[in-house]
Amino acid sequence: MTVPYRTLGKTLGAGFALFALAACGGENGASVSSEQESKVLPGGGTVKEMVEKRHEAMEDIGDSFKTISDQLKSGSPDLEAIKGSAALIAEHAPNVGDWFPAETSPALGVDTDALATIWERPEEFAAIAAKFETAAGELNTAAQTGDVEAIGAAFKATGGQCKACHDDFREDD
Ligand code: HEC
Repeated sequence: MTVPYRTLGKTLGAGFALFALAACGGENGASVSSEQESKVLPGGGTVKEMVEKRHEAMEDIGDSFKTISDQLKSGSPDLEAIKGSAALIAEHAPNVGDWFPAETSPALGVDTDALATIWERPEEFAAIAAKFETAAGELNTAAQTGDVEAIGAAFKATGGQCKACHDDFREDD
């Protein structure tokens, strides 16, 4: 297939060749993706289900984190809202590492914002996931005491780990 494309490119111009390649790549991407996404994982459930599950869990974490942020910014933080949100983040945090089986990499055609760097640099990813778990635990501990200053400090530390992971392992928004 390489030769005909090259010939076409020479005959009809680079623009046409690029268009033909792009169209072809798109079709391949779609079929590889759906085939990979229906694969069953060793731990049960399909690739697609795992990607959906982590998407929802991350959204939960994001919503809870925003609640804490909003409360800290308000003049009179609602401690109950902060406690519930911090507990939810701390509940999810130990599981983050399990949401990224190798079968769910975008390198295999899976539709996800997770970057292939997760599986290229697994030790770095695991290290950040572990730091995040620690930070989220500390945030939860601080939240349950109701000490707003301690909550603020732990909130910042946790946010640093969200950012560290997203910077290297998640597609930019
Ligand atoms: C160890 C890595 C890691 C940590 C820590 C982490 N995230 Fe994520 N997050 C990801 C990855 C990877 C995705 C993309 C998942 C996907 O698309 O499959 C993501 C997605 C998201 C999304 C979008 C949901 C989606 O899938 O579109 C939100 C919101 C989010 N994270 C919020 C947070 C917040 C807030 C924190 C910290 C309190 C956090 N994350 C900590 C790796 C991480």
